[in-house]
Amino acid sequence: MVTAGSQIKHRSVRARALPQAGGAVKSPRAMAPTSEQPTPRRFLPTGALKGAIRVPGDKSISHRSLMLGALAVGETRISGLLEGEDVLATAAAMTAMGATIEKQGDTWSVHGVGVGGLLQPDHALEMGNSGTSTRLLMGLVANHPLTVTFTGDASLSKRPMGRVTDPLSLMGAEFSAATLPLTVRGISPAVPIEYRLPVASAQVKSAVLLAGLNTAGITRVIEPVPTRDHSERMLKGFGARLEVEEANGERVISLHGEADLRPQTIEVPGDPSSAAFFIVAALIVPGSELTIENVGLNPTRAGLIEVLRQMGGDIETVNPRVVGGEPVADLVVRHSTLTGIEVDPAIAPSMIDEFPVLFVAAALAQGRTVTSGLDELRVKESDRIAVMATALTAAGAGVTETEDGLIIDGTGGEPLPGGGPVATHLDHRIAMSMAVAGLASRSGVEVDDTRPIATSFPDFERLLEAAVSPA
Ligand code: S3P
Repeated sequence: MVTAGSQIKHRSVRARALPQAGGAVKSPRAMAPTSEQPTPRRFLPTGALKGAIRVPGDKSISHRSLMLGALAVGETRISGLLEGEDVLATAAAMTAMGATIEKQGDTWSVHGVGVGGLLQPDHALEMGNSGTSTRLLMGLVANHPLTVTFTGDASLSKRPMGRVTDPLSLMGAEFSAATLPLTVRGISPAVPIEYRLPVASAQVKSAVLLAGLNTAGITRVIEPVPTRDHSERMLKGFGARLEVEEANGERVISLHGEADLRPQTIEVPGDPSSAAFFIVAALIVPGSELTIENVGLNPTRAGLIEVLRQMGGDIETVNPRVVGGEPVADLVVRHSTLTGIEVDPAIAPSMIDEFPVLFVAAALAQGRTVTSGLDELRVKESDRIAVMATALTAAGAGVTETEDGLIIDGTGGEPLPGGGPVATHLDHRIAMSMAVAGLASRSGVEVDDTRPIATSFPDFERLLEAAVSPA
């Protein structure tokens, strides 16, 4: 069997997987000088957030640009790639399956193997904390004649994979388990399917579409509830034949298989899910006026901004433009008196990663905020309903947990008492949300472990310092 090992450029790589210019990529955890010990930190009340910051590249788009680049013959160049651990896990996996991925200056260069050309990796793919890497890569592997084992950290090993293995099994792939560690035995040729998503999940949609790339015929996904559409946009950008139609209120996405992908030059816009922490921080810390530049505003991702505006948040959109096929703008966010609302559950898919930090905003609002329909939050990097209920209570907020959401009685703008340590359960968004809560507290909020922040936003703490004490 041909393995990809022979093609990987083994060069020296610095700590935490950030390659030097020209260096190849290895799994972040495999190289690991990350501390073995939790790194607690107390986030103290600060002065106003001022000046201008720029958040790192979008995580979803970064994963997809590496994956599709690795399937296009020729060189794809990517600027603004998020260099967080999750995305580096994807880069390491694509390298292990034959792509050549290098950083040259500020740009990443990907030389792909062609659709159907992935090679047998000579080791298990270490996915760390990254659900997106795992689920999308399972789709890619499912329709290649490869046998690939996926492993992950304690958080990822608890997360449900049946939602992906079910449709991929219908296409002919075989799976050893429904949670990690698991081994996929891919199949080629596979059977195209028409699949109606039982859960609103862009990861499941994308896994099926990516599997469809190397499958003769049309693979169709029906989405009763729209989810982030980065895969559809980028597949089209790389030259795949893909049609999106509306039928009976549902989105029907049809992908023509045996696609020939053409390499692209991609500029990754800033991640709205990372901007979210700074948007809420500026809204709740008195005196703040913060500009956040280059924020992706794809409508399938922009729910938080709409909800915060309904609560009275002063968020101005300036300089709207298109970057990498995605709508982008700068946001000017000013401290605001927020009012609690009942959040329409229909908006949840467009802000699914932003609920932890919305809960923090609600804890500082005037009156009651009610959220519901958030069952999916229970199967993220942690059970974000239960973990945020416990964390906010520890910080002195008034929170009631329900089956599918939280009810939060806000302070009306008064700082939270503060407290902790709060348990983040290997969940980056819990750590950053509670850091934001600390800024608007009396005694600060202690977060038990800041290491998970590096999965999606390694620069978070540095940017926070910059925003509270601008040069
Ligand atoms: C993502 C989809 C979402 C989101 C995750 C990234 C993606 O997950 O929570 O952070 O890039 O497709 P689900 O598809 O499970 O909702």
